[in-house]
Amino acid sequence: MIDGLESSLRKWAGETLEGMGISGERIANFAELEERLMANMRATYSDTAIDFSLNPRNMGKLESPDGFGRVTGPCGDTMEIYLKAENGSIIDARFITDGCVTSIAAGSMVTELARGKSLVEAGKISQGEVLQALEGLPEESEHCALLAADTLKEAIKNCLDSKRGRGERPSKELFV
Ligand code: FES
Repeated sequence: MIDGLESSLRKWAGETLEGMGISGERIANFAELEERLMANMRATYSDTAIDFSLNPRNMGKLESPDGFGRVTGPCGDTMEIYLKAENGSIIDARFITDGCVTSIAAGSMVTELARGKSLVEAGKISQGEVLQALEGLPEESEHCALLAADTLKEAIKNCLDSKRGRGERPSKELFV
């Protein structure tokens, strides 16, 4: 299993069960528990958000990244994004998070959106764009998309700063 996924899923399952008011309640069997959890998830998240949560894209670290960003959101959860760039474009983007299952969906989506884009274009990816690509999130989880967008911006800034430090000139200035 991918690093961090099991603990994130366990965290989500615990919070979800508590939210359903069934913590401490005896569950007849595991299939019933699973069915109730999945029904709750389907009622809360879009198919895309569920898919990107349970089948994360681009999760993990990159060795010797060209850009690295680390942001802790107001909820206390942290995301890291690693970038590889060539000729001003992102050729690889990976993320890790200790956050909720929704943050896994958001990290998956923001790295998918960033790959193949120029650093400048990827720097414009917003919380709204991540939310739209995930077909929305519950209001209380929208900040998870902001964490992903903010972390990507940090990684892009770091990438451009590194290039300047090496005497390379980014083709354009990053978003202003
Ligand atoms: Fe913190 Fe989702 S609750 S990132």
